[in-house]
Amino acid sequence: MNAASMKERVGEAAVGHVETGMRLGIGTGSTAEAFVRALAPRVQDGLRIVGVPTSERTAALCRELGIPLATLEEIPELDLVVDGADEIDGQFRLVKGGGGALLREKIVAAASARMLVIADASKKVDMLGTFPLPIEVNGFGVVATLLAIERAGTLLGLSGDLALRKVGESAFITDGGHLVIDASFGRIPDPEALSAALHAIPGVVEHGLFLGLADAVLLAGPDGIEHLQAN
Ligand code: 5RP
Repeated sequence: MNAASMKERVGEAAVGHVETGMRLGIGTGSTAEAFVRALAPRVQDGLRIVGVPTSERTAALCRELGIPLATLEEIPELDLVVDGADEIDGQFRLVKGGGGALLREKIVAAASARMLVIADASKKVDMLGTFPLPIEVNGFGVVATLLAIERAGTLLGLSGDLALRKVGESAFITDGGHLVIDASFGRIPDPEALSAALHAIPGVVEHGLFLGLADAVLLAGPDGIEHLQAN
């Protein structure tokens, strides 16, 4: 089975966790998009939900497919968010932000009673960090912030390339108007310590380590969907 079919299958499986009346956070990325595409026909058939999208990209797709939306200002407490991930470790810790939506994704996840992560089995890792860690930063003083991130990494024994994310020749700009630095630290033995160190840097808006947020994971593999439940 190819990656696209696995995303379709896990997107479809996630719809089974959506109940009528839910206030639903809707993630970003290709797997979340498969979920949205599977959700749309159920909504047309009468499944009553209101979605809060985690990006402009997801909002546009939901509007195109007729999924009712609200903002997080209008509905500040959600029942469930369904979102993808770039990496998932054995303790349900995640790296997210490959699609650059990490800030809104984290705000929505924190506002949700439950977070269901959907991914193909390649995203499951024994230790986070192979995927470069996205760090959303303010544009003001970006070089100073990059140097501070480098120093914070060094203090934790982490090193590697720190690259400003680009789209062609231009800097990638998030929905919040910020920049993203992708930190290729390699394996991250202590994500909690790195999270705290990054949060202490003034120019860092948010980072892609999602710790203590995921409640369950649906993992698509060649043999079907595995449902992992956090304690
Ligand atoms: C976007 C994200 C995505 O959920 C993550 O990058 C996974 O994307 P995909 O499902 O396309 O592999 O965090 O900011």
